[in-house]
Amino acid sequence: MSRKEQKKRRDNLDNNYLIWHSHKVKKENRESIKRQKGCALWFTGLSGSGKSTIANEVEYSLNRRGFHTYLLDGDNLRHGLNKDLGFSFEDRVENIRRVAEVAKLFVDAGIIVSVAFISPFLKEREKAKGIIGEENFVEIFVDTPLEECMKRDPKGLYKKALSGEISEFTGIDSPYEPPENPDIHINTVKTDINKSVSIILNLLSDRGIVLLL
Ligand code: ADX
Repeated sequence: MSRKEQKKRRDNLDNNYLIWHSHKVKKENRESIKRQKGCALWFTGLSGSGKSTIANEVEYSLNRRGFHTYLLDGDNLRHGLNKDLGFSFEDRVENIRRVAEVAKLFVDAGIIVSVAFISPFLKEREKAKGIIGEENFVEIFVDTPLEECMKRDPKGLYKKALSGEISEFTGIDSPYEPPENPDIHINTVKTDINKSVSIILNLLSDRGIVLLL
């Protein structure tokens, strides 16, 4: 038995004794009383690219129209659920796994959930899509060049990363792998916030997730 298997056995992590319960109320039932489809809007991009700003406006716009939403923000979740995680490769992988599992539950609850995490690794975003389900997943690349993020530096973190006060900072000494084929690609230098929101709302409408009047 491998060491990994031994540990699994010792810690009683085997799933053999867990039974999945099927519930009477399904995603479709929850969605039908909300008159919307559950889905995850997955915003990826560098720190300071504008993910949270756009996600915030999208949520506001949907909420005002009477849709049920939630916003999972990387910085905020790192104050609670993910506060034991740092910025090493392994911790970022776990960070994305957890938020993907949380987003999956929101989608199953029939909610339009926005996830605003750097989520720098292609493979982890693919895994997140697998967890949430491709049909429920909208990948939005908030594409702001590193130079622009460094110029904006809204939290003063690039300055700290460049001076060596913060290590493993995305774009400086930790990689960011841009999406190859996102559902929506927003170049924030050329596209203003209102236009960005309307691009996203139009896609939700085209996919039948919301009915916009
Ligand atoms: S992720 O890479 O694991 O997806 P996440 O979105 O949760 O990152 O958190 C990113 C936020 O944490 C940044 O917007 C920034 O405010 C803060 N932060 C602190 N240290 C770092 C770091 N080393 N790299 C990136 N972001 C950092």
